[in-house]
Amino acid sequence: MKKMKTINEKITSELIKAARKVRENAYAPYSNFAVGAAVLCEGDKIFEGCNVENVALGISICAERSAIVKAFSEGCKNIKAIAIVADSNEPAAPCGICRQVFYEFNPKMSVILANLDGKVIIRNVENLLPHAFERVRTKKES
Ligand code: THU
Repeated sequence: MKKMKTINEKITSELIKAARKVRENAYAPYSNFAVGAAVLCEGDKIFEGCNVENVALGISICAERSAIVKAFSEGCKNIKAIAIVADSNEPAAPCGICRQVFYEFNPKMSVILANLDGKVIIRNVENLLPHAFERVRTKKES
């Protein structure tokens, strides 16, 4: 079996720590479900984000996209990993929209899921989003 490339334990725990801390800034008055995320970029820089809800529920922003948008805004173009922390029984898996966003930037991105009890699951985007939507050629182009 092919060995999956994973990031090291020290960076994994730093990302989890950062996601756990930023989770405290979540604005989640409608769901009461606070989520924190931290992304690892080139030069081992870390950017954090939390979920930010809105009374128009459909426009709420997940912690993962919040962190990714922040990283990009600061000039980070190469996202290697993301950690996501929530207070759930099992580490919470990211929603489909976030998975597609991860795929856009790095299909091999490590996705570290953790809960407040310290349970951790590590996946990568290709596991989480098989047969992802990619830019397809139209019939005219092919
Ligand atoms: N949420 C995230 O921030 N990340 C996820 O992976 C799943 C869900 C947020 C969206 C919403 O603010 C709240 O959690 C409940 O769905």
